[in-house]
Amino acid sequence: MSTVKIPFNQPYMVGNELHYIAKAHANLHLAGDGEFTRKCSVWLERTCQCHKALLTHSCTAALEMAAILADIRPGDEVIMPSFTFVSTANAFVLRGAVPVFVEVRPDTLNIDETKIEAAITERTRVIVPVHYAGVSCEMDTILGIAKRHNLLVIEDAAQAVMSSYKGRPLGSLGALGCLSFHETKNVISGEGGALLVNDLSLATRAEIIREKGTNRCQFFRGQVDKYTWVDVGSSYLTSEIIAAFLWAQLEEAREITTQRLGLWNEYHEAFEALEQAGAVRRPIIPEGCVHNAHMYYLLLSNLAKRTAFIEAMKNLGINSVFHYVPLHSAPAGQRYGRAIGNMELTNEYSERLVRLPMWIGLDTEPVISAVLKTLE
Ligand SMILES: Cc1ncc(COP(=O)(O)O)c(C=O)c1O
Repeated sequence: MSTVKIPFNQPYMVGNELHYIAKAHANLHLAGDGEFTRKCSVWLERTCQCHKALLTHSCTAALEMAAILADIRPGDEVIMPSFTFVSTANAFVLRGAVPVFVEVRPDTLNIDETKIEAAITERTRVIVPVHYAGVSCEMDTILGIAKRHNLLVIEDAAQAVMSSYKGRPLGSLGALGCLSFHETKNVISGEGGALLVNDLSLATRAEIIREKGTNRCQFFRGQVDKYTWVDVGSSYLTSEIIAAFLWAQLEEAREITTQRLGLWNEYHEAFEALEQAGAVRRPIIPEGCVHNAHMYYLLLSNLAKRTAFIEAMKNLGINSVFHYVPLHSAPAGQRYGRAIGNMELTNEYSERLVRLPMWIGLDTEPVISAVLKTLE
């Protein structure tokens, strides 16, 4: 038994978080949509090149808003990968939809765009590409399929802040994009997220859904003389205290990404020989995709090797982890969803994948030594 010396994740503070929270306190505006929310929204609109960025209390909330905006009704089908976090599916299941799980690509572990068309039925309404590890899905093909079949594209860009596809920021390509600022992400606010609205026709309704189904935003802009209940909605906005924290992080988002890419490249170079020897497969970044170093993972040969690896690393004081239990195989996934094909690759990768510690301030050298010692 050994104690953990190197954790899997450690939140990175840029320095100004408490200063801005004190400012929000001094502003006497602690609820949502004050000075800091506005700063964050404008920054996101510019950086992510979207029509409107709405801060939410999580990416889960942004996905739920997207499902309402897509007018999802019971029995509608939503195409997504099974190799993803539960919120991708739950947001739509909450509205009565059936998640239809499609196999992943062998290189990026993103949804296999060549298998999407076969999954489309007359009930299909939405495609949800999930940009796994901050590496883009094959968006030109996915957007083309969506256009041909008149489907909405909602990007789950939870892990993809500051990543791009052919020069376009992730989250800005579909009608809607959903970002996460959860503590485990690159840019953080504890819990937090944003809905990026790219389709202009959805913008007004998005504001209303976020504000409990009221036209409160229009009232504050002087567009209506009183605010009232006009649609379904919930409370999806975030407080100024959180937005103040997030603003400090967004100001440093480029630097954060640069530092993480430095760590990612250290791992990547160090494991090249292991890959050549056939002991691991390293992440693959397709041409045209600029990633944000959200995670570094290795694919080991099989489940037994991975279990032994995680245990050996733990004994060397290093916490490495795996995910996801594929949604099609989870109890709720079986109850609510439907898988296309045998999901062979999804099942296989979920058993072979291991994630290494990745956080700013990490010394990768002891992790690299431990991996080499364990696998050589
Ligand atoms: C792919 C994906 N979607 C959605 C989420 C949910 O994000 P949040 O925790 O901000 O609700 C996550 C979080 O890990 C995620 O990885």
